[in-house]
Amino acid sequence: ISLSPTIIVIFGGTGDLNLRKLAPALYNLYSEGYMPEKYAIIGTARRPLDDDKFRNTLMEGVNSFSRTGKVHKDKWESFSKNIYYQSSDVKDSASFDELRIVIEKFKDEFGPETQIVYYLAVSPDLFPAIAKRLAKFKLAENEDNCRIVVEKPFGKDLDTARELNELLKERFKEKQIYRIDHYLGKETVQNIMAFRFANSFLEPLWNRNYIDHVQISVTEQLGVGDRGGYYDGSGALRDMIQNHLLQLLCIIGMETPINFDADEIRDKKVDVLKAMRPFSAEDIRFNTVRGQYSKGWIKGTEVPAYRSEKDVPDDSNTETFAAIKFFVDNWRWKGIPFYVRTGKCLTQSSSLITIQFKDVPHQVFPGGAAENWQQNRLIISIQPEMSIRLQVQGKRPGLDMILNPVDMVFDYKGTYTTESPEAYETLLLDVMTGDQTQFMRADQVEIAWELLMPVINAWEQKKSLSFPNYTAGSVGPENAEALIARDGFHWFTLP
Ligand code: BG6
Repeated sequence: ISLSPTIIVIFGGTGDLNLRKLAPALYNLYSEGYMPEKYAIIGTARRPLDDDKFRNTLMEGVNSFSRTGKVHKDKWESFSKNIYYQSSDVKDSASFDELRIVIEKFKDEFGPETQIVYYLAVSPDLFPAIAKRLAKFKLAENEDNCRIVVEKPFGKDLDTARELNELLKERFKEKQIYRIDHYLGKETVQNIMAFRFANSFLEPLWNRNYIDHVQISVTEQLGVGDRGGYYDGSGALRDMIQNHLLQLLCIIGMETPINFDADEIRDKKVDVLKAMRPFSAEDIRFNTVRGQYSKGWIKGTEVPAYRSEKDVPDDSNTETFAAIKFFVDNWRWKGIPFYVRTGKCLTQSSSLITIQFKDVPHQVFPGGAAENWQQNRLIISIQPEMSIRLQVQGKRPGLDMILNPVDMVFDYKGTYTTESPEAYETLLLDVMTGDQTQFMRADQVEIAWELLMPVINAWEQKKSLSFPNYTAGSVGPENAEALIARDGFHWFTLP
């Protein structure tokens, strides 16, 4: 692909996100020939630093965190000569004046087609300061080639998300705003769309007539580590369910789009959110479960209780686990539960979507044949295993008619030799090509907050008396098992 010359300004240039994700992604895009011929990456942050030191800091980031391992010396040399550092204070207007001069210089050099990407890789309390000054200094005026990438968290609740949307909308056009949800950039997540809409056998089955329920489970072994300060004001609902898990639910639940236009896809996703059943007080009591970890062991290492983590108060009411039973009230899904769960410090790190099909209407096999009977299941494994498996019944080889569940597996490792790009590679390329399909539109973010606000408020107002209620390294709180067991099922995991 041929991309217009691009200037990428990264606010928060020395921060973790740039070191761990953005710099490795840009370097890998460059290595694979996906960067524009002419580009400049300008990192900004408060501390004084020269270009060379900044380049070295980023190289260390790439060496430690890139999926492709350490940099190739010559490649890094030619990639990094286009990296610059600009010391700036986003609350100080003079910094934006200086930034403008630098940008103008590159624009003159690159030509009139030059596009500019502003990446807000900073704490959300700085979003308004940056957005206001970018507008004030007319740094993002051209709506066709100036884009702004906003990291999560997008708001802390419905009101703050609305406020931020208003602030952005007053200054920029929606087509300039790229709200990141990195789950949408994952290879296996993008493949769900291909799987659903490029295969004809699935659609007739993809509804309440054949599907019993859906499970979306994103479990993590990691605890909050040194992110306690952020996490304690967030919790699993805000940190994971409001964005990543609801987006997965939308991809599973959406109607077939007419085409692959960004707004068409996003309209179809918004329709799912609109159809989701609002929570009554009773729903919150029966269909939601929250958890917080106590100390335990994970992979042979002792893990502290959440309340003993750095920057977490010792009476914290923040949930590190959440499980919710959602309903989508439309023709396709009416009455079909979507069980969603996520949590930290659990026994497994695994992101799985399980579609449980209904049972056969009538059992024709003789007694004994069907002892291992299991209803059909489709399991989409997003990570760490990247696969789609369909569990079907087959006949066990032998003289007797005995049935056995077997897996039909599409496994990335066995099918492809190329490695999948990281989510940030895909998403940064989308920003440079101007494709908003995998980014959150203002209404998507707000409606997802709106849906969850009753749960967030209820959990905040009523402190949990049972916290901590699951041991680090376990499968989570007992009530989360009960939530699904009550309906005759269990949370599915891969062996
Ligand atoms: C982030 C959350 O958005 O997603 C983290 O803030 C979480 O708490 C992470 O660990 C999970 O992402 P991934 O790609 O590792 O599944």
